[in-house]
Amino acid sequence: MTARPEDPAPNPHATEAEVQAAYSDNKLAQVLYHDWEAETYDDKWSISYDERCIEYARGRFDAVVPDAQLPYDRALELGCGTGFFLLNLMQGGVAKSGSVTDLSPGMVKVATRNGKNLGLDVDGRVADAETIPYEDDTFDLVVGHAVLHHIPDVELALKECLRVLKPGGRFVFAGEPTTIGNIYARRLGQVTWKITTEITKLPFLADWRKTQEELDESSRAAALEAVVDLHTFDPSDLEGIARSAGAIQVKAKTEEFAAALWGWPVRTFEAAVPDSKLTMRYRLAQYKAWLGLSKLDEKVLRHVVPRKFFYNVMITGVKPAASGK
Ligand SMILES: C[S@@+](CC[C@H](N)C(=O)[O-])C[C@H]1O[C@@H](n2cnc3c(N)ncnc32)[C@H](O)[C@@H]1O
Repeated sequence: MTARPEDPAPNPHATEAEVQAAYSDNKLAQVLYHDWEAETYDDKWSISYDERCIEYARGRFDAVVPDAQLPYDRALELGCGTGFFLLNLMQGGVAKSGSVTDLSPGMVKVATRNGKNLGLDVDGRVADAETIPYEDDTFDLVVGHAVLHHIPDVELALKECLRVLKPGGRFVFAGEPTTIGNIYARRLGQVTWKITTEITKLPFLADWRKTQEELDESSRAAALEAVVDLHTFDPSDLEGIARSAGAIQVKAKTEEFAAALWGWPVRTFEAAVPDSKLTMRYRLAQYKAWLGLSKLDEKVLRHVVPRKFFYNVMITGVKPAASGK
């Protein structure tokens, strides 16, 4: 249940030279950025392994595969990060055993530790989604969350998924940014950051201002983030990529319109002010607002707003039974 000793060690404190090299080596950038984030990632994104996130992960899965025969026997997660998606799906009854994999050794270390703490049947391995280090026909399910947009050749990664899936096996990727959603999310984020960091220069708001060192660190992170975020997706184009890779029963679904228009400024504001200012009551109120707006998206806006305007896209597909290679 631990990360494999033969895998490379995490490198959470990259040197300036390594950071510079990462600007011209995307895979190195992915490893450095995510190794650096690994130990604080769950806190940063409010990731937990309780009812709240189990329900969220299961909800994403059910949204694209409402009629699955559960549980799957053996699942693989690509770009697992700290294990948010697969560990919560396993707790939600989607799979019995799992392998959490990521390009970043630091993330694999945290994900396997999280799996162990939860008492799940999970192993971990450093793996590039473009060259998955498992035999053909190994898994019943392959999942990923917020990973496809980091992979240079998405079609190659989906071909690899189909190769390691057993015939009839399924992949589910969720949490990918749509092209239009990404435009408004980034703009809203930039405007909120500017307003918050300017307003908190006022002397009577000084205790709402992060130290200059923290703000500089956030700006450096944002610069590297721009390097590791490679793609955004139009849902129909993503379906086309999955079909070209060889998948059948391909379906993309989008979510979060009102919830994203609200959520991105809120998230950016939270990143720009000291943590101590964000009370539990405030966080709970924000979470409730986000839940309410997500419901509005699902019940009403989904029927009137074209799917490409929503922020998140998920995609599923199946490996053909006869020949998937
Ligand atoms: C935005 S994080 C998402 C983590 C996690 N799935 C989640 O939703 O919390 C993207 C993850 O993909 C990983 N990644 C980036 N490129 C990859 C690749 N080519 N193969 C496998 N993982 C990759 C990163 O190291 C990072 O942990």
